[in-house]
Amino acid sequence: MKIISIINLKGGVAKTITTINIGHILATKCGQRVLFIDNDKQGNTSKFLGLHNDNDPSLADLLTETVTASTAIRKTEYPGLDIIPANMHLLKANLKIMLDETREQQTILKNALQQVASEYDYCIIDNAPDINMSVINGLVAADEVIIPLKIDQFGFDGLKEIAEQIDQIKEFNPGINFRGCLITQYANNDVNSQGEAHLREQTKYPIFKTHIRRTDKVDESTFARRPIIEYSPRCNAAKDYLSFVKEYLGE
Ligand SMILES: Nc1ncnc2c1ncn2[C@@H]1O[C@H](COP(=O)(O)OP(=O)(O)OP(=O)(O)O)[C@@H](O)[C@H]1O
Ligand SMILES: [Mg+2]
Repeated sequence: MKIISIINLKGGVAKTITTINIGHILATKCGQRVLFIDNDKQGNTSKFLGLHNDNDPSLADLLTETVTASTAIRKTEYPGLDIIPANMHLLKANLKIMLDETREQQTILKNALQQVASEYDYCIIDNAPDINMSVINGLVAADEVIIPLKIDQFGFDGLKEIAEQIDQIKEFNPGINFRGCLITQYANNDVNSQGEAHLREQTKYPIFKTHIRRTDKVDESTFARRPIIEYSPRCNAAKDYLSFVKEYLGE
């Protein structure tokens, strides 16, 4: 099982949309077995998949070692696509892990996932726009990191910060691979084309060739709660996410 952490400290850059759509494409188009981990107390990935509630076992229980990974996993309506959901209990769980110094706090998720490693090809972690204990666990568990990025100055500034965080995680996870930045919500205008060109020329970090174009259909898809290739297969974002998965897989 390859574990990919989707992360950016900045909010609203399409971490959740990217997680859902690449996971859905890997499962339904590429025949891969995919496990999502919703690592955000907002629970957006869980809500999108209709699996958000306060009572079922969730990531909070896994991180506080109340349940095992198998118990926390829920099946989605898509074959090959499962999830460990999240809810507001993650807030308390974060505090609890931080205060408990009797055990290693950073490796709980990594260790818990070993139990189900042979059951999945990919595990995709949708992280909160934050650095807290559960996000640190999400990075320590990761084989690879993908950073969704919007073209604006704040996004460029934030890239440096998240790259520093990835470097610091190497103490616990020396093999972590910064796979690349994925430009999302790309609009066909001067600031986006110049910003993208600048990023590709100037930055020392890897940037995927594919960018995801801004499409109103993506917002609509969140109301319909359907992955984009199902909701609007011909829209630009659907085509771009399909191209991105191909690029990611090296096809
Ligand atoms: N390609 C796109 N075109 C248009 N809108 C998009 C696109 N990608 C994402 N969005 C919209 O941008 C908003 C933020 O997306 P999303 O929730 O995935 O970001 P996030 O990084 O997970 O946010 P948070 O940091 O709050 O978790 C949503 O309203 C989503 O519908
Ligand atoms: Mg999100």
